[in-house]
Amino acid sequence: MSIVANAAAILRAGGLVAIPTETVYGLAADATQGKAVARIFEVKGRPSFNPLIVHVGGHDWVADLAHVDDRFARLAKVFWPGPLTFVLNRRDRSPVSELVSAGLPSLALRMPAHPLAQDILSAAQRPLAAPSANRSGTVSPTRAAHVAASLGDAIDLIVDGGPCRVGIESTVLDLTGPAAAILRPGAVTAEEIAAIVGPVVSAESDSAAPKSPGQLAAHYAPSIPLRMNASDARPGEARLGFGASPDATLNLSASGDLLEAAANLFGMIRALDDPARFAGIAVAPVPLAGIGLAINDRLTRAARGR
Ligand code: TXA
Ligand code: MG
Repeated sequence: MSIVANAAAILRAGGLVAIPTETVYGLAADATQGKAVARIFEVKGRPSFNPLIVHVGGHDWVADLAHVDDRFARLAKVFWPGPLTFVLNRRDRSPVSELVSAGLPSLALRMPAHPLAQDILSAAQRPLAAPSANRSGTVSPTRAAHVAASLGDAIDLIVDGGPCRVGIESTVLDLTGPAAAILRPGAVTAEEIAAIVGPVVSAESDSAAPKSPGQLAAHYAPSIPLRMNASDARPGEARLGFGASPDATLNLSASGDLLEAAANLFGMIRALDDPARFAGIAVAPVPLAGIGLAINDRLTRAARGR
């Protein structure tokens, strides 16, 4: 049996499969099976108030699950498949388990672009709930080996699709209210969204009870302290560079390319998170433009520690 057919069979039987997407690896289960979804929360150690993203295999899968409007239609036409997640009002008779949206009246939906994710969705013919395939609170996985290291024993299959092209989680856009609101910055930027549907607000994500419950203050935390906007490394610290950084232990992008930096971010934080070698990680400033906003968002959370 091919890996895709195997993954689809396991998912339909209620199992858990780590799947590659272009952003990060996801820990997938059939979103219509409550027991399978419950296992995601258990394996990740994820608080049950934090809802999951549901992945769809086509534009035409959405109508059964959620209410859509003209803003959704215009944005999905441009950015799907891709790293943009929409929060929409769920349909009363949506087949998706209530557990997925953690009791909220909304549902987060994304159509991933990674060819293996698309093949698995088409073979399974089920909407797939999939958070990032890491233990809750830690850095998201951008390679199959990251998933194996943290969840390998607890799940049924890991599909290796190589390193993730984008490397940072999808933009989460809330369309449940009159103003489109970014709940989590990602590869698709506010400017790109505003160009299609007009002004976008950036939701407050720093509070104790953020609108996107996953955006808790302490997240993505390595086991050693991380400092951002550091002009140089202190004794004992590893140096994570950006642009020309002759003293860098690792460099997010020597040429100063933000897309390259995003793709390298989580893997390099993992590589430097080694208490036996380093007392901390000093990260060079990363410009607050384009995907640099999402990079700085993740660094801010990592810097807060656990
Ligand atoms: O790129 C990604 O988005 C990856 C890949 C696997 O798709 N997934 C991912 O999932 O990052 P996760 O669970 O790590 O993050 C999902 C985010 C969380 O911040 C969660 O609170 C938010 O989306 N979310 C999910 N459903 C929501 C809803 N109904 N309302 C508001 N926020 C929601
Ligand atoms: Mg996550």
